[in-house]
Amino acid sequence: MCGIVGYIGRQQACPILIDGLKRLEYRGYDSAGIAVLDGDGIDVRRSVGKLASLERMLENCPPTGCVGVGHTRWATHGRPSDENAHPHSDCNGGITVVHNGIIENYMELKNRLAAGGHVFTSETDTEVAAHLIESHYSGDLTEAVRLACRELDGSFALVVVARDEPDRIVAARRHSPLVIGLGDGEQFLGSDVAAFLKYTRRAIYTDDDSITVVTREGISMMDLDGNAVEKDVSNIDWDAGMAERGGYEHFMLKEIHEQPRALRETMRGRLSLENDRVELPGLNVTDDEIRNIDRIVMIACGTAYHASMAGKYAIEALCRIPVEIDFASELRYRNPIVDEHTLGIVISQSGETLDTVVGLREAKQKGAKIVAVTNVVGSMAARESDGVLYTYAGPEIAVASTKAYTTQLMALYLIALYFAQVRGTLDENCARRLRDALWELPGQAELILNDYSDLIDVAQHYYCYNGFLYMARGINLASALEGALKIKEISYMHAEGYAAGEMKHGPIAMIDPTFATVAVAVQSKTYDKMLGNIREVKARSGDVIAIANTHDQVINDYADRVLRVPETEELFSPVLVAVPLQLMAYFVAKGRGPAIDQPRNLAKTVTVE
Ligand code: AGP
Repeated sequence: MCGIVGYIGRQQACPILIDGLKRLEYRGYDSAGIAVLDGDGIDVRRSVGKLASLERMLENCPPTGCVGVGHTRWATHGRPSDENAHPHSDCNGGITVVHNGIIENYMELKNRLAAGGHVFTSETDTEVAAHLIESHYSGDLTEAVRLACRELDGSFALVVVARDEPDRIVAARRHSPLVIGLGDGEQFLGSDVAAFLKYTRRAIYTDDDSITVVTREGISMMDLDGNAVEKDVSNIDWDAGMAERGGYEHFMLKEIHEQPRALRETMRGRLSLENDRVELPGLNVTDDEIRNIDRIVMIACGTAYHASMAGKYAIEALCRIPVEIDFASELRYRNPIVDEHTLGIVISQSGETLDTVVGLREAKQKGAKIVAVTNVVGSMAARESDGVLYTYAGPEIAVASTKAYTTQLMALYLIALYFAQVRGTLDENCARRLRDALWELPGQAELILNDYSDLIDVAQHYYCYNGFLYMARGINLASALEGALKIKEISYMHAEGYAAGEMKHGPIAMIDPTFATVAVAVQSKTYDKMLGNIREVKARSGDVIAIANTHDQVINDYADRVLRVPETEELFSPVLVAVPLQLMAYFVAKGRGPAIDQPRNLAKTVTVE
């Protein structure tokens, strides 16, 4: 949560900071602010609301100077307001800080500092960091930041400037992301690389408990004891265009359309039809280890958790390994049964979701080997896991996850096929049939995206309804939950995902003509049962939209409206079913008018517990 940026160089900092914040606005949009060193002091400008209101404020008199920091906020401590907006400063405005994370001992520090005469003007935990650094400052900002960080509990990425040291930015981090972009005579800082991709693709991912001193000429790093630290430079293969809307009205729609490409990229080099094999270099799990796994625990949140539900079905079906799935936020508090024969699979688009990363650490500490399925190279999940399977979705900017979900599904299918190959749990004909079907998925998703005018008509019919119930069976229970989540988060409508067989145990009571039911009824072992469930809803005056296969005529007699997806293996159908569910959510939300890419109260990357 919260996006931070920094710039030091020879260009005017203000437009670079604003541009960086635009690309990080998905991380929070309750308020925004920048601070620019202008030769005399630090010019701080802040505004509640989205970045656009800060831009309006700066329009006629932007701050001038070539060094600065910026912030876009997702409120944790203190309501969204001008006073609580970052940057925050010390007592005399000599030290200014932007922060992402939560300083857990801020109250204790605040009381101590206030007793020592420090005057606070906001309700935030961040302001404490500014005053704490001030209390350690005697002409050396780096040392003051280092000493202050040793006193902080919790998570932080801090980017700090001082009026008396205008030739440097000092950054520090623990558990919150911070990347340095290396330029020529100029350097950039950001919560993620999207902040500076336009200027450089050379990046350094900073370590936990590290201090980085950034000057125009370069950077130096140390740990909290002051020992020098060396870090490799990574070359980022995303380009700036990938983080643009590219002619689409919203990032979400663009990202839905990117799924065929993203799925192909995620398969590339891993699934080879010529060699009849799946290869997963980077997974870093030996064949012997795969044979000795006696259980898998998947750790994820939100949409990634829904991907893990489908992954469980696929791995159990193909590899016969028991799989436990858990919300990351629950796993850590229930002393999970995990040991050295357990494989932990951590699924996270950002690789920075705090609950997921803490779950990862918990499983690792209990002896499990950990594999991360993540979209962000160098993210915490990637760095802290034993092996990584990257989803090559490219930057996902819309808060509502779409291409990250389907590529996570693809990655989990690849793992399932690979483990089955090593463990010998599939006969070769079946394995070949599945590999062929997987190979076809991107093209089939493309077919859905080539023409969905019917779907727009359907969405227009339903956007005034009171809510939606999504029902499915088997692996598509994940689709039902994900479909409901999509509509909830961007249209603020009531929606629930339910196992169709559970309807009669309660939820069917909600059915009335203004509460629509979306039934996933693609070909499967339980297709006939789904038809029965649709009948039950219809018998209670419910209105049913079915997601069914292209050639299914039977469904016409059951559902009020039908959205079509091509036939595939049941196990892989969640990828295709996701596409109309995402489009439905998008067009229903469009009809209702909320901010689709930046829904209220949410942030893309959740780095608080
Ligand atoms: C879904 O649309 C959300 N963006 C959210 O549920 C998300 O999937 C969750 O916060 C997990 O994020 P991660 O994949 O980056 O860990």
